Amino acid sequence: MLNPIVMMNDIETLKNEISNQINGANDLKVLDDVRVSALGKKGRITAVMKTLGKMDPEERKTKGQALNALKDEVAELIKHQETALKKQALDARLANEKMDMTLDARPRDKGYIHPISQTIEELTAIFADMGFSVAEGPDIEDDFYNFTALNFPPGHPAREMQDTFFLPDDEKEQGEHIKKLLRTHTSSVQIRHMQNNKPPHKIVCFGRTYRSDYDITHTPMFHQMEGLMIDKKTHMGHLKGCLEDFLRAYFELDDLRVQFRPSFFPFVEPGAEVDIACSRKGGGLKLGANKDGSVDSWLEILGCGMVHANVLKNCGLDPDEYQGFAFGMGIERMAMLKYGIPDLRTFFESDVRWLSHYGFDPLDRPNNATGVKSA
Ligand code: PHE
Repeated sequence: MLNPIVMMNDIETLKNEISNQINGANDLKVLDDVRVSALGKKGRITAVMKTLGKMDPEERKTKGQALNALKDEVAELIKHQETALKKQALDARLANEKMDMTLDARPRDKGYIHPISQTIEELTAIFADMGFSVAEGPDIEDDFYNFTALNFPPGHPAREMQDTFFLPDDEKEQGEHIKKLLRTHTSSVQIRHMQNNKPPHKIVCFGRTYRSDYDITHTPMFHQMEGLMIDKKTHMGHLKGCLEDFLRAYFELDDLRVQFRPSFFPFVEPGAEVDIACSRKGGGLKLGANKDGSVDSWLEILGCGMVHANVLKNCGLDPDEYQGFAFGMGIERMAMLKYGIPDLRTFFESDVRWLSHYGFDPLDRPNNATGVKSA
């Protein structure tokens, strides 16, 4: 306990001691300890302040003033020392730490664009360039839109090619039964579009389709893209030109050889399957012809044809006035071929490792100008 009769030179001594401690504090922690020991609740200056009450008024006045001045002075000295220490610390960091501007930014967790979404976007962009617009339709279809209107009459054997999932019958008001099913192709969207819009028609549609299949190249749900063009003078030459241009743009091969091979689909006449030139030498698959122009092998890529007169009639069009072409392709197949993805089933397993390998960086998406990503 200090002598209650504080002498002026005691204050002077206190001041000298505390300022020495402040000047000697060489880091912020020590400085704070000094502050607490001087100005804290149990600090030395605080203790002396407590003795003022016992002094006579005259003495209290002079000593009180002196002590208050000491408090302010100490606080000021601490602040000054604190600024000096902080500056010292910053100078030391500036002298020792160097910023390497050549380092890459820290990688962040990011999501990827699924190859299906990517491919749909690429396909749409190419057809949009050719003036096609996008039409949509439901996944759950009436038997009529999926089959009958497309010239698959009830009981027709071609229905067997597209076995699907049927839903329980839906009874209409008049007691007529409507067979509901999961659409087996996106051709149903073409029927809906033709019924609800006036010709000419120039649309593409894409979406989920369903068939009861499951192996390395078939999954019960997959995606298709189809196109339809109907006008008064649309002919097979337009079909060929359109698909050749499309395949060359999509595979980024300006001189890709394309072959049309007659084939059967109930809703087109004539109908064709379209193949692209490829080589399977050495166990791999390379798209395009050999350097000398010869073709080793052909790869089937899509179906097409001139829309059947019965389909046009089912959609209220006069086949003597209007004609046109349709085509359809599997989106997974297009993605697998362009991006080298070997197993169709992996598309729908939702494995994040798969997606980070085959997915696309949202900010670095390949397009016809930049090509496939390098990583
Ligand atoms: N819808 C057909 C299919 O799924 C594809 C196709 C469309 C074929 C248009 C020819 C014309 O098999």
